[in-house]
Amino acid sequence: MAFFICSECGFGSASWMGKCPDCGQWNTLKEKPEFDPHRGSSSGKGEALKKMSITRLSKVESSMNARKSTGLFEIDRVLGGGIVPGEVILLTGEPGIGKSTLVLQAFQDLKILYISGEESAEQVKDRADRLSIKLDNFLFSNDLQIEGIIKSIEDYDEKIDVIIIDSIQTIYSKDIEGPVAGVSQLKETTKKIINFAKQTKITVLLIGHVTKGGDIAGPKTLEHFVDCVLDLEGEKVSNFRLLRASKNRFGGTDEIGIFEMRQKGLREIKNPLIFLENNKKLEPGKAIIGVSEGKRTLFFEIQTLVVPSSLMNPRRIVKGLDYNKALLLLAVVQKNLHFPLDKFDIFFNVVGGVNIKSTASDLGVIASLISSFKNIALPSTSVFIGEVGLLGEIRSSNIEEKIIFESKRLGFKKIYSSKILNSVKDLNAVIPSKEGIQTGSPPMRG
Ligand code: TYD
Ligand code: MG
Repeated sequence: MAFFICSECGFGSASWMGKCPDCGQWNTLKEKPEFDPHRGSSSGKGEALKKMSITRLSKVESSMNARKSTGLFEIDRVLGGGIVPGEVILLTGEPGIGKSTLVLQAFQDLKILYISGEESAEQVKDRADRLSIKLDNFLFSNDLQIEGIIKSIEDYDEKIDVIIIDSIQTIYSKDIEGPVAGVSQLKETTKKIINFAKQTKITVLLIGHVTKGGDIAGPKTLEHFVDCVLDLEGEKVSNFRLLRASKNRFGGTDEIGIFEMRQKGLREIKNPLIFLENNKKLEPGKAIIGVSEGKRTLFFEIQTLVVPSSLMNPRRIVKGLDYNKALLLLAVVQKNLHFPLDKFDIFFNVVGGVNIKSTASDLGVIASLISSFKNIALPSTSVFIGEVGLLGEIRSSNIEEKIIFESKRLGFKKIYSSKILNSVKDLNAVIPSKEGIQTGSPPMRG
């Protein structure tokens, strides 16, 4: 069947159109065989009859057994124990967040070919020296044509464990007309890389820049094709970086790796209290939460600012939390506690510039909201753990036990969870007045 693909944005259509309905460009739809990343670009028309080969699955050697450690524990953890031969990993993040630094540091124990369209050999060498990275097993190239890259590696006589491509937006295929970094180029080069990785069992790590908005026509479109998508997150103003797998065919997606950007590169962070500022006292609007991300328990400070609004539609600004979840929690509070929140602008923030996915943050988000609304400071020795349901009920969960255990171990004096609170009304009742608040020294960082 004929299939047409826009050379500008990669939009696909079963019929030809003069104007691409997706990007609005004229005369960009070109006939193409239907795109299938695992099949190569031949449609099979005119091919001789090909007998199917049948394999007994129990006899197939699992590639998982050949997992290799990267040398950085936090990356191994996120990948599910290390890299798998033939795996294609996409590492995304905003420009300047630390992707190139991370990959330089990550694979030091393996044989690497680093292909860069962003930096010269001298620049990479300087940086590697600054980071004290062993370079004996490090091959480098600035050549960016995918067909040439593949042929050269096939002909190369040294064994290579990992190919790093920095970035996929700089690689191009000689077979595609579209602009470099256009969706057609991105898809074609990625398709060729995947076929190559599967055949040679070499692991390939593709770096893809994304902008804050998620960047529609960029690397996000490749997520379906690759085996694993790692996102490096963080605010440039903060030194913390979180590594998360948003897709992982060879492991889970709930583990996170935490790093701090230092003078000498990224440093792995193990301390669960690293995100807490070492304040003896919290100001009104702040609450400490305990959450579980993968196997890790972590503590964060949530800040909420509630201020009278003169707007018809008061502002809701949310950083570090899911926007819709934050709106839902506001609705729960308005309904259950009868706070006139529709008259207030409300700002949420998670200190440290990270995004929290865990639902165990709900209770603390509401606690910080009540704290700001009533202008009452919560003690830095209290921690809030729990998911809040639509009806204002506080849900217990199987991860709660673990976070409570960790909170006790780290010295939190008061632990609020479904064990002692049933609903947001109960929570509101424990933040009644200044007299109701106990004080003391917070758990120490470090
Ligand atoms: P980089 O890895 O180049 O980011 P990306 O590849 O995602 O674009 O990192 C860029 C930033 O990291 C740069 O602004 C400087 C900072 N940095 C450090 O603070 N310490 C270091 O040791 C290195 C190598 C970089
Ligand atoms: Mg870079």
